[in-house]
Amino acid sequence: MRVLVVGGGGREHALVWKLSQSMKVNEIFCAPGNGGIRQMAECIDIKAEDIEGLYEFVLNKKIDITVVGPEVPLSLGITDYFEKKGLRVFGPRQNAAIIESSKAFSKELMEKYKIPTASYKIYESPAEAKANLSEFGFPVVIKADGLAAGKGVIIVDDLGSGIKAIDSIMEEKQFGEAGNRVIIEEYLNGKEATILAFTDGITAVPMVSAQDYKRIFDDDEGLNTGGMGAVSPALHYREEMSAEIMETIILPTVKAMKYENRSYKGVLYFGLMLTDKGPKVIEYNCRFGDPEAEVVLLRLESDLMDIMEAVIDERLDKECIEWKEEAAVCVVMASSGYPGSYKKGYEIRGLNSVVDSMVFHAGTKFIDGKVVTNGGRVLVLSALGKTVADARENVYKDIEKIDFEGCYNRKDIAKT
Ligand code: AMP
Ligand code: GLY
Repeated sequence: MRVLVVGGGGREHALVWKLSQSMKVNEIFCAPGNGGIRQMAECIDIKAEDIEGLYEFVLNKKIDITVVGPEVPLSLGITDYFEKKGLRVFGPRQNAAIIESSKAFSKELMEKYKIPTASYKIYESPAEAKANLSEFGFPVVIKADGLAAGKGVIIVDDLGSGIKAIDSIMEEKQFGEAGNRVIIEEYLNGKEATILAFTDGITAVPMVSAQDYKRIFDDDEGLNTGGMGAVSPALHYREEMSAEIMETIILPTVKAMKYENRSYKGVLYFGLMLTDKGPKVIEYNCRFGDPEAEVVLLRLESDLMDIMEAVIDERLDKECIEWKEEAAVCVVMASSGYPGSYKKGYEIRGLNSVVDSMVFHAGTKFIDGKVVTNGGRVLVLSALGKTVADARENVYKDIEKIDFEGCYNRKDIAKT
């Protein structure tokens, strides 16, 4: 089987790595890929958003299945386009990917189908949003409606900062068109956990839990990032919660999407807050999380291509998915300055001295025989261990062996 993986970050490296172990997969291509993925797949210089270009490539190379990593091509309708041409794709259609690309859509869906989430209001005018800012008390959460690369959520403690946030989203268009509408939402207290699920539109199979560390500095200080590390299982998740999450959140969401004629096939991401009133949805994503994929896929025992085919062919109920008992921890090595501006092009040293971890590349490039930095998040080291503490120790030992100018990582991943 010939497979194309679309994307070029740590998540796609983990997908390529896992798919390369499948007995069914003979050849893997990745568009655009990166400096690490190139060791396992043939990287091709086509952007993940270039649907027409990807289609031409798939046709020329006789690709059997396209696996889509990031949300942007999904929200642009890559699945619909490919399916219309008779091609096999793993990832939801555009009318289902909206569950991530419009937060207003997802909030209305949850309200209509009584799926537990924070109380909210949607506003199309900045004046109205400002006038109603105090409705849920403070702190309060302000969210841009559309896609904003994980940065469209601002939590404010008072009216003044709230007004500034609304101005920056709706007037200054900090996130572009994504800020045409805002959601003002009740602040939820609790611990966060991510549950990813495979679904074929009818059956849903949750994966092992994970937890993402979104802030740049230790102790969850500083700006939000794409994610600075992850642990699986999530530290505050208890197996006893799984039945409630399945019955009140996962199955109702999959059923709701089907009922709305937006049948969801692919990986559905549930960002949850574990509150004292039970688990509530903070956000949905239409794909694997990054860096959650780098820990969850490490724990997957079964053949990923078998599962993906079962999803595409709507026979997930027949599939038995197995997981490793071990825990997994991953830590992101970032460029200094990230999530603000940073420099690129520094040589990465020590990649071959890593012993216990997988080194998934996020922002790297291969030039003149060297691997150099090429993004804010550069590498994601991910290790298994008998316990979370063991996995943590394994990954932090390996982090010491890698070096590049300005390299930064959090020291407290999987600690609390
Ligand atoms: P999102 O992009 O929707 O996942 O939001 C980014 C982060 O903002 C989440 O991971 C939470 O830490 C935080 N957040 C979002 N919504 C809420 C909420 N209603 N209450 C508390 N924190 C929230
Ligand atoms: N780790 C959060 C996300 O992928 O959106």
